[in-house]
Amino acid sequence: MKKLLISLILLSAIGVHASEDIPLNMKNMRDGMILIQDGFLYNKKESILSGITKIQQANSIFQDAKCAEAILPSEKKKYATIAYISAKNLNMYLIKMKDFIDENSTVNAADAYSGVIHSCTHCHAITRGW
Ligand code: HEC
Repeated sequence: MKKLLISLILLSAIGVHASEDIPLNMKNMRDGMILIQDGFLYNKKESILSGITKIQQANSIFQDAKCAEAILPSEKKKYATIAYISAKNLNMYLIKMKDFIDENSTVNAADAYSGVIHSCTHCHAITRGW
């Protein structure tokens, strides 16, 4: 009984933790965007690459549609697959950006960056009813 109680307390603590991580994860996504933006503006490849990594790490919480469902408000849970697709597209554009930067195709990397912005907006449009 005591063990069960402890596991229940632990489980609920993990649950609370996951939802509280959203603002932190999103802040990391935003910080990553700033690194990318500065990288383009000040011509610093390293800054672009660290921004890409930062967003990829933050985006890794969306591993499947279930993870996306967990962060959506109850009335929006039916859009979990679409939210998940935004996260998948986000990852795809980040990979594209990294490849272009590695090839020194900076203009193409900047074009792929608009796909990154689009993916953020796509998921926020669901959560915020935009
Ligand atoms: C799969 C869904 C999803 C994707 C993709 C996504 N977000 Fe979010 N974002 C959320 C949710 C959920 C919230 C919290 C509710 C809200 O503000 O709409 C949020 C909120 C935010 C916030 C406000 C956080 C706060 O503390 O109020 C910022 C900043 C943010 N996101 C940045 C980004 C950036 C930058 C990207 C893209 C690089 C991104 N997000 C991609 C789901 C997503």
